[in-house]
Amino acid sequence: MLTEGQRQGSGRDGQGGAKRHKRFEVLEKRDVNKDGFVKEWPEVGLIAMGSPEDPEPSIKIENGVIVEMDGKARDDFDFNEIFIANHTIDATVAEEMMAIDAVQIARMIVDINVPRAEVLKVFTGLTPAKIAAVMDQMNVVEMMMGLQKMRARRTPAIQGHVTNIQDNPVLMAADAGEAGLYGFSELETTVAVTRYAPFNALALLVGGQTGRGGILTQDALEEATELQLGMRGLTTYAETVSVYGTEGVFVDGDDTPWSKSFLASGYASRGLKMRFTSGTGSEVQMASAEGKSMLYLEIKCVMIAKGAGVQGLQNGSISCIAVPGGVPGGIRAVIAENLVTTCMDMEVASGNDQSFSHSPYRRTAKTLLQMLPGTDFIFSGYSTVPNYDNMFAGSNFDCDDNDDYLIISRDMKVDGGLVPAAEEDLIAVRNKAARALQAVFAELGLPRITDEEIEAATYAHGSEDMPDRDKVQDTKAATAMMERGVTGLDVVKALAKRGFRDVATNVLEIQKQRVSGDYLHTSAILDPEFNVVAAVNDLNDYEGPGTGYRLQGERWQQIADIRQALGPDDI
Ligand code: 5AD
Ligand code: CA
Repeated sequence: MLTEGQRQGSGRDGQGGAKRHKRFEVLEKRDVNKDGFVKEWPEVGLIAMGSPEDPEPSIKIENGVIVEMDGKARDDFDFNEIFIANHTIDATVAEEMMAIDAVQIARMIVDINVPRAEVLKVFTGLTPAKIAAVMDQMNVVEMMMGLQKMRARRTPAIQGHVTNIQDNPVLMAADAGEAGLYGFSELETTVAVTRYAPFNALALLVGGQTGRGGILTQDALEEATELQLGMRGLTTYAETVSVYGTEGVFVDGDDTPWSKSFLASGYASRGLKMRFTSGTGSEVQMASAEGKSMLYLEIKCVMIAKGAGVQGLQNGSISCIAVPGGVPGGIRAVIAENLVTTCMDMEVASGNDQSFSHSPYRRTAKTLLQMLPGTDFIFSGYSTVPNYDNMFAGSNFDCDDNDDYLIISRDMKVDGGLVPAAEEDLIAVRNKAARALQAVFAELGLPRITDEEIEAATYAHGSEDMPDRDKVQDTKAATAMMERGVTGLDVVKALAKRGFRDVATNVLEIQKQRVSGDYLHTSAILDPEFNVVAAVNDLNDYEGPGTGYRLQGERWQQIADIRQALGPDDI
């Protein structure tokens, strides 16, 4: 910084204002300067890590009961703290684990000679403030090392958003089919109009199983409807069950850690894969951060998820990403929360969903933190549709970025979860998915899907390319379909009757999975043959070079073989 005396040449422009440096005029028009930034403001929680109000780590145990945690006596615990003390922290080892220096634990996470299981053991006995102190010892490269070793499933994967602003079911089925060929393991939809929810679930189920057998599907909705769609076999997993780091935010939503645990059991007991959602910034956004840092509060959320017994967590700020995105070190706190989830032995669906920046550089830089090390789901919502059709408010990457993403994967020889797909194959699968849904609609007596709609969906970029549907008729039929008690098995029968035997078989297989419940294991996905790939049979065994997941063989050939690359015959 120059002193006043060193500053010269402060001329005036013609209108009496300060004369501008032309480079600044250019900089101000750049994408990154459309983003919002704030200075740290700890009183309202606008601080990524290390708020002055964050407590110091401590633990006291009497007769097997935690009587003091992070400087607070048990009588003063809020309900999150009671829940964590009773259900998450293992009081039999807590004193031993709390005695290890934070820097020592951070080194264990990074050290390839310390196996994952040993780190997990330490984390069973740590308090929220201690975990925050461990994270604060690490830079982002060390955190990436941590994710590479600590994520539960050896093979990384990716979840996609499939939505459109018209809730057009034909387009949704085609988009889900396309997502299957690109390699998505989970697909998530939601609604523009609530009453369309059953059709969206149906379109995703049929389109998804046309694209590739074994895709898991979700319809993010109000909780009772979502659970019901799952129990009917129209969806296979749920994740938007939110938990929060302060009592104030929980109470605002008429919820507690216990009510969320009850809901989680509702899903899991009916054979539905389930994970919670949380993320830095939610408490600030709901004006109830109690002056604590975003990461400290998020660590409590991770620990609540663990205590509730759910197998995984969608975190990485998620819909609140603009909040940590605006403060110093915020994106570092976001990878830290992902890492904490893995250190608590849960599946992590690591965000990169809601768009947080206008700058493609910033978006890419942020994504690399999860993409390069790999996580259970690098994106918990890569948009498989154009930005304008994304009903989750736009994603960090969308379908128009597919080639960028695939080429970055190829450049780095990194498995980002996606594989290239040929244009003619995508056209074919879109067409088949749309026709399969047409058949199901016809068999179930739902409003007609025309050949014109199928043709449009086959080649569409997004909903602007689709003819209009009669929405009143559609939403009435969707409600009636639920009232009639249509289930996944009715979908199987309809597909089989109309000649879509392979899709029918896949939809039937996915129903069987719900009965067997094997995909309730931590970090489970299904391969195209419906084999479970999870932390039980594909446990991450990374211990440095030569171990863990390696992108090689046929999979690497697929990612290397992009349509844009010229061969000797082309030159
Ligand atoms: N904390 C808690 N829940 C969140 N969700 C998104 N971001 C967060 C967060 N930071 C959940 C909400 C939302 C859905 C998309 O995911 O339930 O409706
Ligand atoms: Ca998601």
